[in-house]
Amino acid sequence: MEGLSYVADAPFVVIDLVNLKSVDVDVKSRTAWVEGGATLGELQYRIAEKSGTLGFPTGTCHTVGVGGYFSGGGHGPLSRKYGLAADNIVDARLINVNGEILDRKSMGEDLFWAIRGGGGGGSFGIVFDWKLKLVHVPSTVTVFTVTKAPQQNATQIVHRWQYIAPKLSDDTFILATIPRAEASEGQRSIQVTFRALFLGRSDMLVSLMEKQFPELRLVKQDCIEMSWIWSVVYFAQFTTEPTEILLDRTASTKSNFKVKSDYVKEPISEFVFKGMGPMFDEYEGRFAYMNLVPYGARMDENPETETPFPHRAGNIYSIMYATGQDEEITHSEKYINWMRRLHRYMTSFVSKSPREAYVNYRDLDIGVNDKDETNYEQSSIWGFKYYKKNFEKLVKVKSLIDPQNFFKHQQSIPSTV
Ligand SMILES: Cc1cc2nc3c(=O)[nH]c(=O)nc-3n(C[C@H](O)[C@H](O)[C@H](O)COP(=O)(O)OP(=O)(O)OC[C@H]3O[C@@H](n4cnc5c(N)ncnc54)[C@H](O)[C@@H]3O)c2cc1C
Ligand SMILES: *[C@@H]1O[C@H](CO)[C@@H](O)[C@H](O)[C@H]1NC(C)=O
Repeated sequence: MEGLSYVADAPFVVIDLVNLKSVDVDVKSRTAWVEGGATLGELQYRIAEKSGTLGFPTGTCHTVGVGGYFSGGGHGPLSRKYGLAADNIVDARLINVNGEILDRKSMGEDLFWAIRGGGGGGSFGIVFDWKLKLVHVPSTVTVFTVTKAPQQNATQIVHRWQYIAPKLSDDTFILATIPRAEASEGQRSIQVTFRALFLGRSDMLVSLMEKQFPELRLVKQDCIEMSWIWSVVYFAQFTTEPTEILLDRTASTKSNFKVKSDYVKEPISEFVFKGMGPMFDEYEGRFAYMNLVPYGARMDENPETETPFPHRAGNIYSIMYATGQDEEITHSEKYINWMRRLHRYMTSFVSKSPREAYVNYRDLDIGVNDKDETNYEQSSIWGFKYYKKNFEKLVKVKSLIDPQNFFKHQQSIPSTV
């Protein structure tokens, strides 16, 4: 998200993982080895080649790499049922600073813990491949995309969503996206789009929504039944392309964007969503949107210290703020500043002390390492936001595996040696 894998202001080395993309699926043991440079799309496609009822909890964007995604935890449409991607990793082979290849046994449980959510990318070594425990998915799932305009009570409904989406059964995932309202001239309001994955048939989903989320007014015509692998294509925002699109690393239009994140512990009042309307209506809000990713269910079960990713029980959803820009990159600052203002506006309504952030939505605004030397005090500012107390253990692991701080970037885990 901040280009940390290929930008630095000192001499640096780029290790190109483009050819490390093989995925070796073993249906019988329900496991797979995936190489560190594969994409999420390649992973899902190769699993589906072997089985229509096995999958893996990945995110929605098929061009994201497993290397970064797994090392930050990784949440997505299956996380309410199966937890993070990192929760389903059972082994890995890591190349350390001395060029030695370590597996789970030889690296030890602390380092194996650290690379599953500690933003491992660029801190501990290079993950050559990961061993995954695959999860069961039904052969037919149901999806829908429903948009509510301002005059369809968008703010009321997204306000209700906060009480419902994190409490639904673990088969149901409803993502809420808030952009400015279309043709919003003078409307000064937001709209909301709900995108859902249901691990079952549409009849069941419709009756579930009638009972649990009647405000949505979901009807059967809104729902599409499809195979699991098609739902992966659907969430990657394609409709008519063959599933091979998942292997295409350049299929999505290339765009520049910047993100920030938050965690929400208590439902936010409706007036706060109302207040976003005039902000989104400003010129600089035109490329912006917020993704509200519901947690709860399985996400509440692991203790905070089980992996470095600490945002478990007590968090009802995460927010990703994103903004793009117009053609001229020199204008990007004004859009980013607008998003910083939205983030400030949210301060009282989100997690506090620390104001938590999700490392996969990497954000250099929340602090960076000292330029010349790694300074624990300074790093702990952003470190506690991403990892809470787990940051201390990450620093210990880093100091043992890479004391000289060979693997580093603006927000790499510091060595205190
Ligand atoms: C369009 C889009 C959608 C997204 N959707 C989601 C989502 O649904 N859920 C979610 O949790 N996140 C999501 N993300 C965030 C994503 O998980 C992070 O941006 C992640 O860091 C991307 O990993 P990468 O390997 O593609 O990126 P890179 O920039 O290549 O890598 C990120 C970091 O990891 C390091 N790294 C990469 N591979 C390895 C390896 N094999 N060994 C060691 N270090 C490595 C890099 O050096 C770098 O420091 C999304 C991102 C985008 C761009
Ligand atoms: C909006 O909400 C009002 C009051 O709660 C309700 O009467 C109306 O039917 C709703 N409109 C839509 C389109 O859902």
